[in-house]
Amino acid sequence: MIETESLRDLRVSRTREYLMCPPERFAVAYSINPWMDPGSPVDTDLALAQWAGLRDTLIQLGHTVHVLEAQPDLPDMVFAANGAFSVDGTVLGARFRYPQRTAEAGAHERWYAATGWRYVPANHVNEGEGDFAYLPGAHGGLVLAGYGYRTEPPAHAEAQEVLGRPVVSLRLIDPRFYHLDTALAAISDDNIAYYPSAFSLGSRQVLAQMFPDAVLADETDALAFGLNLVSDNRHVVLPAEAAGMAAKLWDAGYVPVTVDLGELKKGGGSVKCCIAELRA
Ligand code: ARG
Repeated sequence: MIETESLRDLRVSRTREYLMCPPERFAVAYSINPWMDPGSPVDTDLALAQWAGLRDTLIQLGHTVHVLEAQPDLPDMVFAANGAFSVDGTVLGARFRYPQRTAEAGAHERWYAATGWRYVPANHVNEGEGDFAYLPGAHGGLVLAGYGYRTEPPAHAEAQEVLGRPVVSLRLIDPRFYHLDTALAAISDDNIAYYPSAFSLGSRQVLAQMFPDAVLADETDALAFGLNLVSDNRHVVLPAEAAGMAAKLWDAGYVPVTVDLGELKKGGGSVKCCIAELRA
């Protein structure tokens, strides 16, 4: 393990800017993914406390967290990752698949407009960073994009045109992992962690070819939302429930930092879903 230890010592964290939205209006009022059961109660105060724990963890790691105000009648707005996708100062807006979340895109758009970003509205359905991941150090900047449940394939070509980065389309095939960020995550500038069985055979072959050193998750890791993480290149923030994934990341030379987001899991999301990264 000496080699992994020196690798860990060499891993330098890079400070990030994030956008988050407090779960003040969080509820499971409808079901648009298999995790959501409108019949089981949600403790909004607990969700808020857990969310604050995540925000504080990110701040303690040296990152900046901007806060988007929660809006009435948008109970999923806490899942801020879905609101847009930014690369080098350009923001591709979201266009939600389900009417219950449609109005969230406008709230994000107003935030970006007020803070000086180049915002491009989307013509095709895409759920922002839920289905788009970015690797700044792969091929000069590479986008990985998911489809199958939410984001539509034409949105991938649209992202390539708007952002000027190559986009690799990956097909999701397991409804429990309905967004790319439930099955795959960037853990460094040029490497990923993912759960192979969430992807079609062809997409699995593409990932194996492009990322031979990827950290592979198993079904238990993925069901614990262990891939729904954010990384600063050294620290990887992931749900406490995903102990196995934390161990795999440690073995790969990263420093896992765990937070409890159990209440938000009732909405079908965890760490990454709550965070939109701002790439200026
Ligand atoms: N209830 C939300 C939905 O189904 C959860 C979104 C989770 N976000 C994510 N980035 N995976 O749309």
